[in-house]
Amino acid sequence: MTIGSLGYIGFSVKDPEAWGAFATGVLGLMPGEAVGGAQRFRLDDLAWRIAVEPGEADDLAYVGFEVAGATELEAVRARLTGAGVVVGNGDPDLLKERGVLGLVSCLDPDGLKVEIYYGPTVRTETPFVSPAAAGGFVTGEQGLGHVVLSTKDVAAARTFYQDVLGFRLSDIIHMQPAPQFGFDMEFYHCNPRHHTLALIPVPMPKRLHHFMIQVPTLDGVGFALERAEAAGTPITATLGKHTNDHMISFYARTPANFEVEFGYGALDVDDATWRVARHDKPSSWGHKRAAH
Ligand SMILES: [Fe+2]
Repeated sequence: MTIGSLGYIGFSVKDPEAWGAFATGVLGLMPGEAVGGAQRFRLDDLAWRIAVEPGEADDLAYVGFEVAGATELEAVRARLTGAGVVVGNGDPDLLKERGVLGLVSCLDPDGLKVEIYYGPTVRTETPFVSPAAAGGFVTGEQGLGHVVLSTKDVAAARTFYQDVLGFRLSDIIHMQPAPQFGFDMEFYHCNPRHHTLALIPVPMPKRLHHFMIQVPTLDGVGFALERAEAAGTPITATLGKHTNDHMISFYARTPANFEVEFGYGALDVDDATWRVARHDKPSSWGHKRAAH
């Protein structure tokens, strides 16, 4: 058994207040219950999807991958320990804070805290309502969205995420920022979302290049772009369409300096028919990078 979806992410940010205002006012996320000094935000009927805690990193602090139940959690634990990964059990305090029934934790090869869990807290009694009057987000079996991570050792990251956790390669994009400098970005899925994880094989100051959240309508992207512009948020890439997942999106700089991609219209991957591909451009049109 393998990972079901990206269930939650936690950020460590220098200015939690600014990040919270951005999350609600620009992204349209709903505040959830705060726990242990962390603000938490909802995208759907789960109690939380994104946690923001005060810290100096201005980066991703942890990722949570959801599995279906206790049997699947034990299967993932066995695969991790079989691969020589040191695995810890979530202690009762951590389970309570995350609001899950079971959890194992470990570090990825670059030192990111990875939690695999089952049994998240569901708040169907308090429906999702966006404070920015945005519609809902595309979540469910596809999880909260995707994360794009830099790695110092792509072979080790590939072993961890693909061979041990069971992510499947969707495609690669060859990036050539300069004539003498190119690299392949690798895009991985674990459910119909085209990629839940992408790897940039270049060491960068932050692990997280960006995270992505998806809305069900193109209008949802347009309204978010207008909210970002009205709030003075730096738009780091203009509206555009990706070559590989066909997502129409824009990118903005969050108050913690890593970016967010806000998108619509990505294609779904069906493992029965999907064929791995390569691309030489990240976008069919748009996504012009701003000089920030
Ligand atoms: Fe993305």
